[in-house]
Amino acid sequence: MSLDAVSVAQEAWGSTPAGAVDRYTLSNGSGLRVSVLTYGGIVQSIEVPDRGGNTANVALGFASIQGYLDNPGPYFGAIIGRYGNRIAKGQFTIDGLAVQVPVNDGPNSLHGGTPGFDQRIWEATVTDDGALVLHHVSPDGDQGFPGTLWVTVTYRLTADNGLRIDYRATTDTATVVNLTNHSYFNLAGDGSGNVYDHVLRIDADAFTPVDATLIPTGEIAPVDGTPLDFRTPTAIGERIREDHTQLRYGSGYDHNWVLNNPEAGLRVVAHVAEPGTGRSLTVHTTEPGMQFYSGNFLTGTFAGASGHLYRQGDGLALETQHFPDSPNHPQFPTTELRPGQTYESTTVYEFGW
Ligand code: BGC
Repeated sequence: MSLDAVSVAQEAWGSTPAGAVDRYTLSNGSGLRVSVLTYGGIVQSIEVPDRGGNTANVALGFASIQGYLDNPGPYFGAIIGRYGNRIAKGQFTIDGLAVQVPVNDGPNSLHGGTPGFDQRIWEATVTDDGALVLHHVSPDGDQGFPGTLWVTVTYRLTADNGLRIDYRATTDTATVVNLTNHSYFNLAGDGSGNVYDHVLRIDADAFTPVDATLIPTGEIAPVDGTPLDFRTPTAIGERIREDHTQLRYGSGYDHNWVLNNPEAGLRVVAHVAEPGTGRSLTVHTTEPGMQFYSGNFLTGTFAGASGHLYRQGDGLALETQHFPDSPNHPQFPTTELRPGQTYESTTVYEFGW
């Protein structure tokens, strides 16, 4: 694929109380088409052919902006910030400053408060080579976090049918930041049922066990001998009902895997294959961790773009990230960002068929 084949189309896509929303559709000319909203930087659809040439949307989401406004809870496709996943009791200390961010998930803070970056309108520009650049300035104190945060998230399609996401952020005061994307995938097609037959591999020898409120205990535990061992490709449904404390706490898989070879930078960390359609997803990232969430809290109370209700397990999220609650665990890779430093993170979701 030459870069000339990338095309980007822009259209108006409704409005929110915060303003008008645009949708940008990136196509690479060889079958991959990705639509992104300026609201939340949401990846609204990912169209991928199957081995027989039949195209389907493999990302969970809604057909209209109202769906996202009515159902922010699952964070479908959204940019997550300022802090992906949980911070215990919404509390941490940085440079002696005690910080309290809003608690929105039982006793804890989840995904950076309400509203987080998933509910903001991002400023969009398109580069000459077909990348969509989203920009947002989060003021000092936004969601309770110290410092102004200047954030840029760039979406582009790669020559290998990848959706590449580059995150950059700078600050004017010491703060913490942990950005990710909350796409849910169903490689058999959005609305086609659960993903338990998807075969998953995660290149991680360890994970961070959690307590009953899904806060890491601080331990880095081996996956060996647990249903969290995905070092060899295994169907998601094969062990999801095993009576294991961690699966009880998460109502399924909802854990941070400690990815191997963090020093290697951008590397392959996971692979998903859907036997029925032949579609696959390879995840590359620079991040040290990944939350594999098996859609456990989808309860059949709302319908997505396909018109079908979403039930438990109907999509899987692979959220590349630093570890949950890192500000309270000095032994975890740091999420601190200081003036003069640049937060940089890259993830590629590469599709095959
Ligand atoms: C969390 C889940 C949460 C989901 C949707 C995931 O990143 O780990 O616990 O339910 O996001 O909010």
